[in-house]
Amino acid sequence: MQTLIVYQSKHGTTEKIAKGIQMSFGYDKCEIANLNAKNIINIDKFERIIIGGSIHAGTIQKGIKKFISKYREELLNKELGLFLCCMYKGDERINQFNNAYPTELRDIAKAKGIFGGELIFDKMNFIERFIVKKTTKTEESISDIDSNAVSIFINDMQKIRDC
Ligand SMILES: Cc1cc2nc3c(=O)[nH]c(=O)nc-3n(C[C@H](O)[C@H](O)[C@H](O)COP(=O)(O)O)c2cc1C
Repeated sequence: MQTLIVYQSKHGTTEKIAKGIQMSFGYDKCEIANLNAKNIINIDKFERIIIGGSIHAGTIQKGIKKFISKYREELLNKELGLFLCCMYKGDERINQFNNAYPTELRDIAKAKGIFGGELIFDKMNFIERFIVKKTTKTEESISDIDSNAVSIFINDMQKIRDC
């Protein structure tokens, strides 16, 4: 079964996780598409699609929204995985996940994951630094990726593959 991972990433966290998932699936069985690069994507040959994005100022990337809207019908017939990188915890991160991905896709998704995130000050522009300092009251970079959640997500997707 061929898998496609479609992702968008601002400072590289989602990209790092997407590439880790690709490695777990095997490079011969899994392709990856960065929506930042404006690739033309043909999803027909993939039976399984994983979509990953991150939250900035409360919302997922526009590219992810556009991809979902463009391929909505096709995605309903794929084995789907949805993941999100974000820093918020608890109910707020669940709300962000639910706002990021439409109900009909969440309902049919075989695996869903919220993986935490990173705040990398070196990669932020002036405005981003200002916002993050103000909202988090910190000036130090943080890495808070939930590797256990990533493993569970990969296992859930691989269970499907073994069926
Ligand atoms: C300017 C800015 C705004 C952010 N806003 C949110 C937010 O509203 N909610 C949240 O949970 N995380 C927020 N984050 C944290 C990001 O989701 C986190 O940095 C994530 O790892 C980014 O992944 P990426 O580098 O793949 O885009 C924000 C980060 C930045 C830099």
